[in-house]
Amino acid sequence: LRVIDLPDEPATRRLGGALGHLVEPGDVILLIGELGAGKTTLVQALAEAAGVAEPVTSPTFSLMHELSGHQGILFRHMDLYRLEADQLAHLGLEEWFEPDAVLLIEWADRLGAFGPNCFLRIVLSHRGDGRLAEFTASGQRHEELLARLLPGVAI
Ligand SMILES: Nc1ncnc2c1ncn2[C@@H]1O[C@H](COP(=O)(O)OP(=O)(O)O)[C@@H](O)[C@H]1O
Ligand SMILES: [Mg+2]
Repeated sequence: LRVIDLPDEPATRRLGGALGHLVEPGDVILLIGELGAGKTTLVQALAEAAGVAEPVTSPTFSLMHELSGHQGILFRHMDLYRLEADQLAHLGLEEWFEPDAVLLIEWADRLGAFGPNCFLRIVLSHRGDGRLAEFTASGQRHEELLARLLPGVAI
């Protein structure tokens, strides 16, 4: 089962919350979906579950925010919506992709060939009034993360 229904916003928040209890530094969560698909909602619930106290907003102009959660776990929250393709090579993405943090990347499809090799990708799409979430994992750690996540969120 790699696709789940998210019939309402609380379902998106439950998914984010479940993920927030499982993530570890080095994990890479790629979030893809059009405006309003629920990417930031998911990140907010994830951060809250992971003990991030500060309010989470989309880093639209700065592209990246650092947040810290329980036990000093670091989160890098990126929103690449405004990223131009020719900026990609100059951002210093290698530093952002250091495995000292959990990476949460909205509009990750904008990374193109600069994307990481290992990731959990969540594609959110509209379905009626709700959303669908489609999961892909790459690499053993992210396969395991997905295997632990799905039983808790599948309805
Ligand atoms: N599963 C869902 N069903 C219906 N509405 C949802 C669902 N998940 C989130 N929403 C709503 O959709 C909007 C998503 O906004 P946001 O999370 O900012 O999207 P994005 O970051 O993808 O642009 C919010 O108004 C939220 O309440
Ligand atoms: Mg957003």
